Amino acid sequence: MTTLTVNRKKHDVDADPSTPLLWVLRDLLHLTGTKFGCGMAQCGACTVHLDGEAVRSCVTPLSRAEGKEITTIEGLSSDNSHPLQVAWIEQDVPQCGYCQSGQIMSAAVLLREKPNPTDEDIDMGMSGNICRCGTYQRIRCAIHRAAELAGAGAKGGAK
Ligand code: FES
Ligand code: FES
Repeated sequence: MTTLTVNRKKHDVDADPSTPLLWVLRDLLHLTGTKFGCGMAQCGACTVHLDGEAVRSCVTPLSRAEGKEITTIEGLSSDNSHPLQVAWIEQDVPQCGYCQSGQIMSAAVLLREKPNPTDEDIDMGMSGNICRCGTYQRIRCAIHRAAELAGAGAKGGAK
């Protein structure tokens, strides 16, 4: 039995320690916002956070996640109020939507590291996330917008 902390809740999971975290999240914990794309760390659809770092959950064994804080798209906010979610909705980013939770989870790490990213920062930070629908321009706009929203929130909070 492995105890996992996912989106601040503890779960006991009965699975082989080599099971990919993605399988555990989707099939055992029913957190289906995280998607299976390539299964070989090539597309980013399965991106989640492990202790705040973006990882490809399709190639992350369950054993590596034990004792870490796992955050999935469902844990980013409970009411779509995270600046990235607000910006994504505002900019109408998704087309088919399949890649988008992975895109948002990667963008969250990018914004933490670079709160005001340039286009180049975004292209570099998001290069591991593939979108077959080609929504890259809207993703870029939404990340800039989320940076603005987060900045405004931080200033508001500092008053
Ligand atoms: S499904 Fe994990 S990187 Fe593609
Ligand atoms: S929105 Fe369809 S793959 Fe990205």
